[in-house]
Amino acid sequence: MSTDSVNPNRRRILNWTAGVVGAVGVGYAAVPFIRSMSPSAAVQAKATKTVDLTKIEPGQRITVSWQGKPVWIVRRTPEMLETLEDPAVVDQLKDPDSSASEQPDFAANPHRSREPEWLVMVAICTHLGCIPSYNPEPGGDFWSAKWEGGFFCPCHGSGYDFSGRVMAGSPAPRNMAVPFYEFLSDSELRIGKPA
Ligand code: FES
Repeated sequence: MSTDSVNPNRRRILNWTAGVVGAVGVGYAAVPFIRSMSPSAAVQAKATKTVDLTKIEPGQRITVSWQGKPVWIVRRTPEMLETLEDPAVVDQLKDPDSSASEQPDFAANPHRSREPEWLVMVAICTHLGCIPSYNPEPGGDFWSAKWEGGFFCPCHGSGYDFSGRVMAGSPAPRNMAVPFYEFLSDSELRIGKPA
């Protein structure tokens, strides 16, 4: 699906809306649901998080809670994926191969994922733990080097590309972590390993 039809303003609204819906769902629905489960089912529910992918549009990022941590799911567009091997981006990265970063073996590739389109990542800056913002539009004056889009941590100014790889010159030492996950079908993925 082309992203040319995705208006950046609309994307921001979708992004914000999905985050709020996700947060409300986690806060008000998960607790009573887990209380009604058997102990083993409750452990399983906390260990994993199943996510419906059908409502995530190209270019959109949603946030879910998994084991008390925010996890982003980003449906990357072809344009976003192109930047991951663009020398203008790669030459800025501290750890382009993620050799010093936390991720499963299946993420040992430039897109750091099972499927290039889908990024699943723990949304915690590796410097001091702030939650970065999502800045998918190229340009912008908050980052001194060439910015092709990605994530930016406003706490102390760390930049990350669309795979969560940290930019040289950032105080963050490593790329953001990729958790274990697997696709249950074309429209559903599960974060974490079943207990
Ligand atoms: Fe992100 Fe310091 S916590 S740059």
